[in-house]
Amino acid sequence: MDAVTEQKLSGRKILVTGAASGMGKDIAELFVTEGAQVALVDYNAAGLKAAAQALGMPSWACDVTNREAVNATVAAAGEGLGGIDGIVNAAGILDITPFVDLDPASWDRMLAVNLTGPFNVIKAALPFLQGVPTATIVNIASVSALMPMPGTAGYSASKAGLTMLTKSIAMDLGPTIRANTICPGVIRTEMTRYLWENPEHHERAAERVALKRLGNTADVSRAALFFSCEDSGFTTGTELPVDGGFSWR
Ligand SMILES: NC(=O)c1ccc[n+]([C@@H]2O[C@H](COP(=O)([O-])OP(=O)(O)OC[C@H]3O[C@@H](n4cnc5c(N)ncnc54)[C@H](O)[C@@H]3O)[C@@H](O)[C@H]2O)c1
Repeated sequence: MDAVTEQKLSGRKILVTGAASGMGKDIAELFVTEGAQVALVDYNAAGLKAAAQALGMPSWACDVTNREAVNATVAAAGEGLGGIDGIVNAAGILDITPFVDLDPASWDRMLAVNLTGPFNVIKAALPFLQGVPTATIVNIASVSALMPMPGTAGYSASKAGLTMLTKSIAMDLGPTIRANTICPGVIRTEMTRYLWENPEHHERAAERVALKRLGNTADVSRAALFFSCEDSGFTTGTELPVDGGFSWR
């Protein structure tokens, strides 16, 4: 088998949100290595430009909560790539605050970015996805979708909502569109820098999971690749924890 036929996403066109940083950026990189054309989307215009230039792929700066902007972005990305076969929704925000102190504006924003954002992107991409025999949607939720943790009421609600949104659309959009959720544990990205930069917190977080380490973006990217290619061709509506053995206890 030559190198080209080994690529798992050869010829596929995939839009990735949150692509300026962390998991979204790493997913875009892996997908390009696997032969995909990737449209990178993020609201961090500077980070996005750098990530897209490094990959030689097109990018669109866009806030996923802005439905009109998302509609225009997805239409332009679909035109630019000549179609969209798959989506990865990785854009997200986190505010860990005890419920008594949780600002209602922060609740609103977490639901808008983490839940309504993916809704906006999927809705806008549907005309493209529906024209494809094997389209894929991958949503990045969190172990917070599966289990309660202190201070995560808004984040957990948004991610649990995203998990059930994914299951529901898997029912509605099959058989040609598959939709799955990834539920990462603690992964070393900008979002969790406050945790892993502190040796004590880092050790405590690693100690409480079976595999005794924090996750890397590559751990999540490989799961996103699985859900975006035919290796997962009979799998839809599931959520996969990528958490080193945390959420099942
Ligand atoms: N890092 C973790 O431990 C962890 C664990 C579980 C789930 N997650 C989820 O994984 C996803 C990726 O997070 P990450 O850890 O790579 O964090 P990150 O902060 O490195 O990346 C998130 C990206 O989303 C972008 N973004 C945020 N709001 C946006 C908006 N309104 N419109 C467009 N882009 C927006 C940011 O600019 C950033 O580039 C998020 O959905 C996050 O909730 C992270």
